[in-house]
Amino acid sequence: MTDLVDNVAAVESDGLARIDAAASVADLRAVEQELVGGKRSALAALNQRLGQLAVEERKEVGRAINAARTRVEARIAERAEHLAAGEREARIAAERLDLTEVIGRRTTARGRRHLVTQARDELEDLFVAMGYQVAEGPEVETDWYNFEALNMPPAHPARSMWDTLYVRLGEAESTLLRTHTSPVQIRVMQSQPPPIHVVMPGRCYRRDTPDARHLPVFHQIEGLVVDRGITFGDLAGTIEAFTSAYFGPDIHSRLRPSFFPFTEPSAEFEISCIFCQGRGCRVCSQSGWIELGGCGMVDPNVFAAVGIDPEEYSGFAFGFGIDRCAMMRHDIDDIRHFIANDIRFLEQF
Ligand code: PHE
Repeated sequence: MTDLVDNVAAVESDGLARIDAAASVADLRAVEQELVGGKRSALAALNQRLGQLAVEERKEVGRAINAARTRVEARIAERAEHLAAGEREARIAAERLDLTEVIGRRTTARGRRHLVTQARDELEDLFVAMGYQVAEGPEVETDWYNFEALNMPPAHPARSMWDTLYVRLGEAESTLLRTHTSPVQIRVMQSQPPPIHVVMPGRCYRRDTPDARHLPVFHQIEGLVVDRGITFGDLAGTIEAFTSAYFGPDIHSRLRPSFFPFTEPSAEFEISCIFCQGRGCRVCSQSGWIELGGCGMVDPNVFAAVGIDPEEYSGFAFGFGIDRCAMMRHDIDDIRHFIANDIRFLEQF
């Protein structure tokens, strides 16, 4: 009998040690199962041996077993509570959101205007400061505004200067996505008499394959001045004023003879290469100059299309790429960065 009582004591002290050693609630449940969990448990095994004992002994050992069970179960309950609390704390710590990080970022990483929008706004401001007004026109245009009124009758070969995207609306090839902002010149001249000083920024579309310098959707800003006595000198001076205002006092412009159906004479305007200050580099093909846009004196046929008397009035017009301006000012080598939506690129401006 003392044997059995010793046994009970040994099972209990071993059990208590294992309970204390359980590292998790799951561990503890396994230990519990082995100690008090049913017919196969350690204490149940001791109970089964009671049958071999005399009645008096049986009572005494039985009490010892019950007392041991009570203590074991109490220790399990205590340990379970402790382990569960620890596990809950660990889980809360793991799930914790560090909101201070988000708050910290919010003060520095605010949204901003796209770089092309910034360039457009800045160009607008610059011309507004020179006395211009800002006008806009539709991106979906008729053939008449985009070509015909600009002195390009149907089938005129100059139309092939612009790879046009047509819209399936009305008669074939009667509706299109404007290939330049020049149709807005027509709309402005139709809506107000001279004197006219307007810039017209906006999106343009051409059937181009995207590469480092071209996108099928890009931005231009058009300028138009119509008044009595406007000369080519006014045009050249305006281009030069805009160039040094936007790119800096070291950057200058020059005009080279060119052709556009809606201006006569026509010119391409170039600015000194902002990468090499005109010394010659890879970007400007060693020429020291970079082409920015087209310009010229408004062709009398364009005035005729809108009912302005070319004997009384003269004017100049120009148009150039906003995207290209932003690229040059910020040393961006690929126009596709503008539409890639890469936050690392956009955040820099
Ligand atoms: N519309 C021309 C183009 O897109 C540029 C231009 C505008 C030329 C105004 C002359 C006058 O290429």
